[in-house]
Amino acid sequence: MLFLKKPQDAHFQCLSFKKAGKSIGFVPTMGALHEGHLSLIRRAKAENDVVVCSIFVNPTQFNDPKDFEKYPRTLDSDRQLLETEGCNLLFAPQEQDMYPQQPVLTFQFGYLEKVMEGAHRPGHFNGVALIVSKLFHIVQPDNAYFGQKDYQQYLIVRQLVSDLSFPLQVIACPTVREADGLAMSSRNRRLTPAQRRDAVVLYQCLQEAKQRLLNGETVASVKQYVAGIFAALQEKGIRLEYFEVADGYTLSPVEDIYRHQEVVLCIAAYVGEVRLIDNVLLFS
Ligand code: PAJ
Repeated sequence: MLFLKKPQDAHFQCLSFKKAGKSIGFVPTMGALHEGHLSLIRRAKAENDVVVCSIFVNPTQFNDPKDFEKYPRTLDSDRQLLETEGCNLLFAPQEQDMYPQQPVLTFQFGYLEKVMEGAHRPGHFNGVALIVSKLFHIVQPDNAYFGQKDYQQYLIVRQLVSDLSFPLQVIACPTVREADGLAMSSRNRRLTPAQRRDAVVLYQCLQEAKQRLLNGETVASVKQYVAGIFAALQEKGIRLEYFEVADGYTLSPVEDIYRHQEVVLCIAAYVGEVRLIDNVLLFS
């Protein structure tokens, strides 16, 4: 596996892949790789001639400086994992090379960024759109792989690709979970063993909420149910930030699930200091 740090080196390498007629599958990440990331690498491997993975903890998408500082950085073991998976190129740039000067460009995604992560993490999707655009220019992928785990991010990236005519396909991959259902996340490794056991409540709530909605319970009543579950967990340091039932394409609020082709249930909660998100789709 090639390992490159300089954007211009990675760009040159990707251009020569293309000149050799090879299709490029790209998996952008922030590292601390787990099975969720690796599932994207495997899918990219199966569908492209070469796989490029980037690892960059992108400062512009962190609205909380503490979260940025504490974000796990495990480049050596990540590199080994990628090598084992048969990744062809790891691009791990330095901050000063990705942001030689303070960026001024800003993105607006309309309603897509007004809710959930967009509402609770101001500037987050602007930072995501900025770094993803830079990475797409450097790597020039044919296919780019994103996890459904970050559902709103996936919709934002799709919008970005469509509005800026990036010549690539955005491919969504299913959320990979631990045996008890907790969505895999780099942030999980910051949980204490007790918090790790409690964290499964996010997934349990989503599953119960899904069943209740499919059984005809109203959205308002299901929201009350979820709020009740979390109210009882407050003394354990678990705090619900939001639980939303949204249209699967526009993220607009849902009242009657059967008026929508797809519905996504999204949750964000703090388990101690660690902020976790998860979601499930209602109809697929
Ligand atoms: P990161 O959180 O490292 O995630 C990289 C990719 O892995 C994202 O597409 C994410 O949705 C996917 N992923 C994470 N956990 C997953 C799981 N349990 N199952 C399936 N896929 C999972 O998302 C980012 O980095 C950044 O915002 C990035 C797009 C790299 C821009 O900086």
